[in-house]
Formats: sequence, C-alpha cells, structure tokens
Amino acid sequence: MKENKKTFYITTPIYYPSDKLHIGHSYTTVAADAAARFKRLTGYDVFFLTGTDEHGQKIERIAKEKGMQPKEYVDEIVDWIKDLWNTLDVSYDDFIRTTDERHVKSVQKIFKKLYDQGDIYKGIYEGWYCTPCESFWTERQLDNGNCPDCGRPVELIKEEAYFFRLSKYQDRMIKYIEENPDFIQPASRRNEMINNFLKPGLEDLCVSRTSFKWGIPVDFDPDHVIYVWIDALSNYITALGFLSDDDEKYSKYWPADVHLVGKEIVRFHTIIWPIMLMALGQPLPKKVFGHGWLILEGGKMSKSKGNVVDPKVLVEKYGVDAIRYFLLREIPFGADGVFSNKALIDRINFDLANDLGNLVNRTLAMIERYFDGIIPEPGETGKFDEELKEMALKVPHTVEGLMNNLQFSNALSEIWKLISRTNKYIDETTPWILAKDKEKRGRLATVLYNLAESIRIISVLISPFMPNTPPKIWYQMGLKDSNLQTWESIQTWGKLSAGTKINKGDPIFPRIEAEDDLKEADEKEDKDAEPKKEAMITIDEFARMDLRVARVLEAEKVEKTDKLLKLILDVGGEKRQVVSGIAKHYLPEELIGKNVILVANLKPAKLKGIESKGMILAVSKEGELSLLTTDKLIDTGLRVK
Ligand code: MSP
Repeated sequence: MKENKKTFYITTPIYYPSDKLHIGHSYTTVAADAAARFKRLTGYDVFFLTGTDEHGQKIERIAKEKGMQPKEYVDEIVDWIKDLWNTLDVSYDDFIRTTDERHVKSVQKIFKKLYDQGDIYKGIYEGWYCTPCESFWTERQLDNGNCPDCGRPVELIKEEAYFFRLSKYQDRMIKYIEENPDFIQPASRRNEMINNFLKPGLEDLCVSRTSFKWGIPVDFDPDHVIYVWIDALSNYITALGFLSDDDEKYSKYWPADVHLVGKEIVRFHTIIWPIMLMALGQPLPKKVFGHGWLILEGGKMSKSKGNVVDPKVLVEKYGVDAIRYFLLREIPFGADGVFSNKALIDRINFDLANDLGNLVNRTLAMIERYFDGIIPEPGETGKFDEELKEMALKVPHTVEGLMNNLQFSNALSEIWKLISRTNKYIDETTPWILAKDKEKRGRLATVLYNLAESIRIISVLISPFMPNTPPKIWYQMGLKDSNLQTWESIQTWGKLSAGTKINKGDPIFPRIEAEDDLKEADEKEDKDAEPKKEAMITIDEFARMDLRVARVLEAEKVEKTDKLLKLILDVGGEKRQVVSGIAKHYLPEELIGKNVILVANLKPAKLKGIESKGMILAVSKEGELSLLTTDKLIDTGLRVK
C-alpha cells in the first residue's frame, strides 16, 4: 500500500554566484537543512530546494572584467557552491540554476501570462537602480541619494520597460498579511513590511531591462530581459515544473511550507512574490521566515575578510558538525549573532567537547570498566532516575514545537539542558562510589543503563543539526539497530537493549587549542585571566596564592604508585600539568570535565619524576577527600577572590 505522508516543502534563497560565499551565507542553507532533516526524521515527505540566481547586470560586469562569458564565469562558482553544500552535508532534493532551460522556459511563460492578462504593461522607466542589489528605487526611497539597502551609490536610468501592476494588488496584500499572522515571521518583520512598504503605497514595478543582455529574454520582445527578481523568485515554482509538461511535483508540494530568507530580502518575498502568485491565481507560500545575520565583531561580514570567514577553511579546521552547531546555536531566533573565532572555539570546547563529548566518553569508560564493555541490564531503581527519564521524554516534544517555529537555537539549547541533566545525573549517582560496593551492583547497572539510554535519545535529537555525530556515537555504543535511531523510538524510555557490546573510541569532539593565526583581534586580552608567571610562592606562603578556576581535560594514573594522578588542566586557554595525590579518592574518568581550583603560582615540583605546575585544592574529613569545585560550569582562568 502506498504510504500517504504529509509533505513539507522548504526553500533557501538562491545565491548569487558573483563571488564565493562566506560563513554568513552558509547560515540560511544549514538552517534550512536542519529543518528539512528534522521534518524527514518526524515522518514528512520533504522537498528541499536550493540553487543559484545567475542573471543580472552585476554578474555581466564581473564576467566582462575577467574577460569571460557570464555563463563560463558562473559555472565555476556554481560548482564551488555545490561543493560547499556537500562539504556542509546539506541534503537538498533539487538544485535549481536560473540558467537551467526548465527555469528559463517557465519564467518566459509566467511573464507572458501576466502580460496577456494585463498585469504587465509597457512604459518608460526613469529612476534609480542599485546594481549590486539589483533593486529599483524611487527618489523618495533613496537614503541621502544612496541605496537604502546597502548604502552604495545608485545609477539614474531611463529606458523603455515593462511594468508589473503591484499597485493593483496592494490592498489584497495588506489584507492577506493581516489575516494570516503566520505568513511573515518573526512578527517584527511583518510590521516593518506593512508600515514601511505597503501602507505608504506600492508603485508599479519595473520588470524588464534593455541596457544589458545577461538575463532571460522576454520571448515576445527580445530586446528586453526580465528583471532578475521576477526571474529569481519564480525558481520556487519552476523547480516544481510549474507551467511545464511535468508539473507533478508542483501539485504535490506547492504551496511551500517555508521560504527561509535573510532579513534584507524579506521585502521581495512578502510583497513582490506573493503578488506575482496572486496574479497567477496560485496559492501563496504558508510562511516566509526572515532570519537575522551572522555579523563580525567589527560589522558586516564579507568575503574580503579572508580565511576567517571562508566556510570551507572553517570546516576543514573544525569539522562540519562543529560549524553547523555553531551557526545554528549562535544566531538566536530572528536576531543577529556575532561570529568570532573565540565564540566558535568556546562553543566547540564547552558545548561539544565538554558537555556532549565528555558525557559519552565518561559513560562508555565506566561501562567498559565496570561491566567489561557490555551495556548492563538495569537493576535496582533509585533517586534521580525518574527526573532524568521524565526530562528525556519531554525534550523531544519541546524540540518539535520549537522546530515548527524554526527556533533552531532554542531547540539546541533544550537538547543541551538534557545533556547537562544527564551529566548531573552522573554526579548525583556517583557510579564510582557504587562500584566500590558489591551490593550496589544492581544500582550501578541501572545508572549506567540510564546514561546510555539518555545518550541514545540525545543522539537522535541532535541528528538534524549535526548529522555526522550520531553515527559516531552509535558506533561507540554498539547500537546497530536502525529502529533505535528513529524519532518514534525516543518517545519511549528503555528501548536500548542490554547486553550490547560497546566500542569505546576516541572522544567524539577533541578540544580545540586556540591557535594564534585564528585568535586574531577577537581574542581580547584579559589581563585578569592570565595566570601570573612571576611571584612564585612556596607552600609556606600559601596566603599569597593565585587561585584560578581550571578544568580537567585529561587524567591518568601515575605508574608505580596508587596515590598520584597526572592531570592536564585548562586554565583560561593555557594547558597545565598538575600531579595530584587524589588517586585513592577519584577515578580518572570521573574527573574529566570537572572544574577545580588551582593554586596557579605554586612553585613547580617533580612528583615521581613528573613535573607538576600548581596544586588543586581539596578538603578531607576522616580520610575521605573532596575536591573544591565551582557551583556552575564557569569559564576557566577566572581568579578566585
Ligand atoms: N539572490 C538573492 C536571493 C534570491 S531568492 C529568490 C540573494 N542572494 S545572496 O547570495 O546575496 O544571499 C543569499 C542568502 O544569504 C540570503 O538569505 C542572505 O540573507 C544570506 N546571507 C548573506 N549574508 C549573511 C550573513 N552574514 N548572515 C546570515 N545570512 C546571510 O540575496
């Protein structure tokens, strides 16, 4: 029997192949990809479209400067863009180029239809044009004589042209937006469209040019090429076969569920595009979502900033899932987010290596150590179990609600609450103490089973955002059954089969040491955070100590002694090796990721021949030792005052 799945059609804007794209451009497509993957995961028949917007005066000029034909010039960049989407694991279903014949033919038919029915007419255009933005402006709209969108100078043009009767549809458009509050999201952008563009009155739009050639010709008047935005916006339906011999996809997927676009092009998508569709007698897209921008600390992002913003360089350096995570986490719902290498490295080190990576690593290390690498059958239940289960089962619903509103960052933050809850469960249940008592073996089994099950749920939840990480987790957990990797499977607790052999491997997210070439200007020097190298003190001068928050990155037993552990600490980005006499009280794996308090200016010493630079603080009562830590997972390097 044929399955009748609900459909979901999502699009990105089609990119200008005038230059290679930067990391900010990647945001729209990665976000659309996460939404598409999420819908596939939750059972929808998804069609995800992206592509390139290849016509226009700007591309014609650049190609000319390079002594190339426009098509020859864009072909190279389009290949680069396709390769970028592959690098970023973008799972698009179709890639449309506005130079594709299927698109050209259909756009010509759209233009002709609008002309035949009187919505497009011929006149003289005299006014302003911004070539970089490919936008027409009236005198009134200019900003001190410049383009109101990009601030660059505009050109005065006067030529015979075709016009589209936007004015005729103005009232219908206002009514539509008012009656469909979900159409433009977030709401702030809806108000901006109504108040700044629609209410002051729409003028008919000039929709053809004669002063250059690189565009789709008007087939019944070939001196004219069709205005690039009419050409470009049509891609959302030409890709589905609109007005072609095969319009099956059009019947199936149109109207689009979401057009995901950057905030500066909401105007085209919520005024010109819906009016084109109204004039064509077609249904309007259900939602246009205008997201914020990723900006550099110093202002707008541009390709001229070099390697720092080159998405391929960043992926090569930090890995695709880390970059995807950063993009989706860093730009809050609808607002702008700031890109800096420090912000990126912090997200990788704190959220990925520390929170998620260590959770997996610690859990699997304990399963290996206490149960010979076999996921144990749960035994005795206990305190904290219910709270963990309840949260693990609630988070998928919350995430689904947020993803339906394209709140990527909030959805990730909910998933990270579950990760933190699971990490806290380790600290609360103290498996290493349970392991010391044979009678607590049943309880220990439950704790480790619950941790593994929670990780399974987390792995499915993160799969739309970071598609490469779940398979790594599943491999290490020995989880082969694809039925346990589905959305449905995480609606119930306890599906994970006990008895599975794990394959503990390397940490899934190695920590990144900030490198000088990438630290650049965004690494503001925090004098306070830099451990002093002078003024070393002896243990007798303890009162003058320099105390710092540090985090345990690595821990291992020192050979030939049962007292010492060798620790590698992170102190505000600096690595420190400390040898500590806590081996009888702490297992190496339970320390990883913990914050400790370091006496940073203690004279270095050698213990069993190993250099120790500093000392970590602990209290002891009747031989039982407890390390001093911080209440919250606060940044390392901070001075304890
Ligand atoms: N070709 C038009 C779209 C036509 S759609 C029918 C276009 N292309 S673009 O290449 O300039 O931009 C493509 C997308 O990238 C837009 O959604 C834009 O907002 C987005 N971004 C460009 N720079 C960005 C950031 N710095 N941050 C986030 N998104 C950014 O516009």
